[in-house]
Amino acid sequence: MTARQSCGLLTAAHVGHQVTLMGWVHRRRDHGGIIFVDLRDRAGLAQVVFNPELSPGSHEVGSQLRAEYVVRVDGEVRRRPAGTENPNLPTGEVEVVANSVTILNTSKTPPFYIYEDGEVDELLRLKYRYLDLRRQRMQRNIVLRHRVVKFLRDFLDARGFIEVETPVLIKSTPEGARDYLVPSRMYPGQFYALPQSPQQLKQLLMVAGFEKYFQIARCFRDEDLRADRQPEFTQLDIEMSFVGVDDVLGLMEEMCTALVEKVTPQFHMVRPFPRLTYAQAVERYGNDKPDLRFGLELADLSAIAARTDFGVFRTALAQKGVVKGLALPGAARYTRTQLEELTRWAQERGAKGLVSIPLDAEAAGRSVAMKYLSPGQVEAMASRLGAKQGDLLLLVADQAAVANAVLSALRQELGRRLGLADPDLLAFAFVTDFPLFEWNEKEGRWDSAHHPFTAPLEEDIPLLDTDLARVRSLAYDLVCNGYELSSGSIRIHRRELQEKILGILKYNRGDAQARFGHLLEALEFGAPPHGGIAPGIDRLVMLLARETTIREVIAFPKTQMATDPMTSAPSPVSPEQLRELHLQVTE
Ligand code: AMO
Repeated sequence: MTARQSCGLLTAAHVGHQVTLMGWVHRRRDHGGIIFVDLRDRAGLAQVVFNPELSPGSHEVGSQLRAEYVVRVDGEVRRRPAGTENPNLPTGEVEVVANSVTILNTSKTPPFYIYEDGEVDELLRLKYRYLDLRRQRMQRNIVLRHRVVKFLRDFLDARGFIEVETPVLIKSTPEGARDYLVPSRMYPGQFYALPQSPQQLKQLLMVAGFEKYFQIARCFRDEDLRADRQPEFTQLDIEMSFVGVDDVLGLMEEMCTALVEKVTPQFHMVRPFPRLTYAQAVERYGNDKPDLRFGLELADLSAIAARTDFGVFRTALAQKGVVKGLALPGAARYTRTQLEELTRWAQERGAKGLVSIPLDAEAAGRSVAMKYLSPGQVEAMASRLGAKQGDLLLLVADQAAVANAVLSALRQELGRRLGLADPDLLAFAFVTDFPLFEWNEKEGRWDSAHHPFTAPLEEDIPLLDTDLARVRSLAYDLVCNGYELSSGSIRIHRRELQEKILGILKYNRGDAQARFGHLLEALEFGAPPHGGIAPGIDRLVMLLARETTIREVIAFPKTQMATDPMTSAPSPVSPEQLRELHLQVTE
């Protein structure tokens, strides 16, 4: 018996060898008597030739083969005849001449082609995910994910980090999103929660003295889904004792750089990773996860706008709003239709309108705003935006939150349409100095901007009694190409401060004790100063795989509606199961 050989690893070095191949029929071509089959396994494709003159028996079986049949082929490797080599295939120099073939299993006709990576309806892909995963793109993504996780584990292990598993059934302690709850059979009316992240447990591991912890941790959040959000996702959860912000960010930069250089060297990075404060990020890019692959920076033009007679500007400013904008290079001669399309685009995202100012004498007539602006004011705005003749200024006059949201989306959209982003650049950057709290208009209270365990900046602690809006935190994000990849912070490690923060978040003493008593108590037993971060593995792999949704890098993801079309989860359970859990479904 010959040794099994991987289809995708056959090379000219095997010429003359007897080999056994096992795999799936990728494609079959009948060439007037001779049958060619591309046989596929995880490593790739090999061409198998069934020649009726050399082996009538295997040719007979070969003629029965259909797409996705599983077969074993025994045969001899030979060089492909001159002129028939396939330079696009790693195994393209050789082929295997079958002298025996066994059908190990047949296959129904798949609902979509496995040998093409073309568009297929996503619901169908997810219903037959095991077939979808056979496709080259998905195989590549899942293998890449494995390499990334393997690299991260090795990297952290080499630096003295210990991987510790933490439980998946925990106490419900809100951390921002809605919990997934698990009813307890033994304790009627009581529930476990699935962790939104192992946040408190990793802090307790610091109290326990592990100093450097990590975990490839599954997290669960019942929240509205988007392309970069799933109800269950994976974090590289990290925590360290005796560290400050620079230690955590330094480790992240070293880790991400080494990862990209080793696993996806086709990308390049800008080093050192730029650092922006939250305030700078919002000022210059309109959000806290800027895509730094291209410019188109925003600027606040309120001071100049205040000196004009333009009603749109004056109304917004009178309502404590702002006038902000960006400059689009070389776009001064955009037609009226193009400008109207952009305006509609901005309006669909909440803007009242989009003010355009072309830096071009001939196009000036198309701009209503130009009638109210002096040449000096136009010049001042252009200079503030770093614009030159031939550029187009696009401005939004509104409340700061609206102007920032619309302009950051517009910036991203224009960057995409104009192809401004270098596709091989991973523009990592750190965003620091987040506010500790954000005002929750609906509930009329302050919420944590990150989570309740984040420490305030030492110098801002006095503001906790006077001006909560101005308290900055020791929280930081790692962003890349417009995505938030990781969040983390230096934590509070003293009980008094933690209790004070919980009080500000409107947990009264009893509430705080009931929900966070375990953590508060642990802080009294020599909790060391500590901090950490948690990169989202799904988002990281998505960027490295050049995908635009994390569903493409998760073997069995949920749909945007949190369902699994393959197994039909979620699904009803039997009345017995409900009874055992002391549950009654009311609607
Ligand atoms: P945070 O909630 O910001 O921080 O999450 C950290 C990172 O996890 C990823 N992420 C998600 N990925 C996919 N689907 C989701 N629904 C989802 N939610 C979050 C993102 C994000 O940056 N315990 C803190 C971390 C810490 O302070 O150390 C935490 O979980 O990439």
